[in-house]
Amino acid sequence: MNEQSAARKEANVGGRSLDLSKVRSMDGVDVRDKRVLVRVDFNVPIENGVVADMTRLTRVLPTIAKLAREGAKVVVLSHLGRPKGTPTPDTSLKPVATKIQELMPGTVVRFAAAPSGEDAKRVVDTLKRGEVAVLENVRYHKGEEKNDRDFAKALAALGDLYVNDAFSSSHRAHASLEAITDLLPSYAGLLMMAEITALGEALEQPERPVMAITGGAKVSTKIEVLTNLVSRMDQLVVGGGMANTFLLAEGFMLGASLVERDFVATAKGIMARADESGCEVLLPIDVVVAKELNAGADWQVCGVSEVPADTMILDFGPQNVADLKRRLAKVKTVLWNGPLGAFETPPFGEGTFALAREVAKLTKAGKLVSVAGGGDTVRALNEAGVADDFSYVSTAGGAFLEWLGGAELPGVGALARSGSRAH
Ligand code: 3PG
Ligand code: MG
Repeated sequence: MNEQSAARKEANVGGRSLDLSKVRSMDGVDVRDKRVLVRVDFNVPIENGVVADMTRLTRVLPTIAKLAREGAKVVVLSHLGRPKGTPTPDTSLKPVATKIQELMPGTVVRFAAAPSGEDAKRVVDTLKRGEVAVLENVRYHKGEEKNDRDFAKALAALGDLYVNDAFSSSHRAHASLEAITDLLPSYAGLLMMAEITALGEALEQPERPVMAITGGAKVSTKIEVLTNLVSRMDQLVVGGGMANTFLLAEGFMLGASLVERDFVATAKGIMARADESGCEVLLPIDVVVAKELNAGADWQVCGVSEVPADTMILDFGPQNVADLKRRLAKVKTVLWNGPLGAFETPPFGEGTFALAREVAKLTKAGKLVSVAGGGDTVRALNEAGVADDFSYVSTAGGAFLEWLGGAELPGVGALARSGSRAH
């Protein structure tokens, strides 16, 4: 067993029951002349018929290119948006197929106007060794989201092998992610392996001390995440709007700040659990407040016990940032999900950006391992210009959160189970 798979095997701890060492990579699999169905996550923003963010495309390209290079007939499956069984112009994968062709100039890339049936079959049948077909949105078929076995069979009929390289979609028990693994020999793609290895190591096997930095607007959407993190981390930084609910639970008066009064008890419960497991919860010390959330608004810095009644908390304050920088110097692993302030509106991103720059600097200097994920988080890191300097940035949004919450992702679980069966 190599080091990576040993790490993954031991990652099978806590609430998650799946044994990741059962997930088979594509290593050593002979794909020459085989039709390989690759489920990817091409759920990307399309603006005026053009792909507006290439990240998910470039991250999955190595898998498609490797299969093509090794002589497979590569059949790419994905969803885009939430068309619920009915084709719409803005959810077509045609613009993505066009982009993939641009990214792979030496490779024939075809497009099939349906994810299954005659249209798909005709295109797949014409594929030669080393060629690629992108099939239309799997969610154009109602069976996809129902994890329908007949739709899975229709997809499986187009391939000899199945590869899931869509970690960021794998929190969905859908036909092209789950049911299909019962029908074809199933493997994890390169991006899937990278995601589960990086996330597994940061969450379940971190080099300690390990600090989680969490933010976002609401406690209510992150109860599982926070509960799981306090039982695994040495320090938990709570920022963003959700920190307000924790501060409220501690008795602070927060003026006009966003709070979730119904979740004060939840916040208290999370802090009690943190105490039991020896996790230090780090709430804001000083904050940036303003009367309104817009770019021109007057703002000021104050301690959390001095928030003026007519203002709201919109970012971490400088004292807080300095304190966290001091703490980061002693940390070995950082797991980051969620912005610490209203980063989209200047200057309320400064706390998030300053901390992101510090984590990036320490990572580059080889002093810590940093793993980040979630849509807003990645946007904030990109805005700070440091995403490339983190050890690992996940392509996943919802799936990253579910993973942090300790849930088994159906798509990953299906790969592990398929790997335990002999096909
Ligand atoms: C994502 O973009 O996070 C995934 O592709 C999942 O998309 P969904 O929330 O529409 O299932
Ligand atoms: Mg199954």
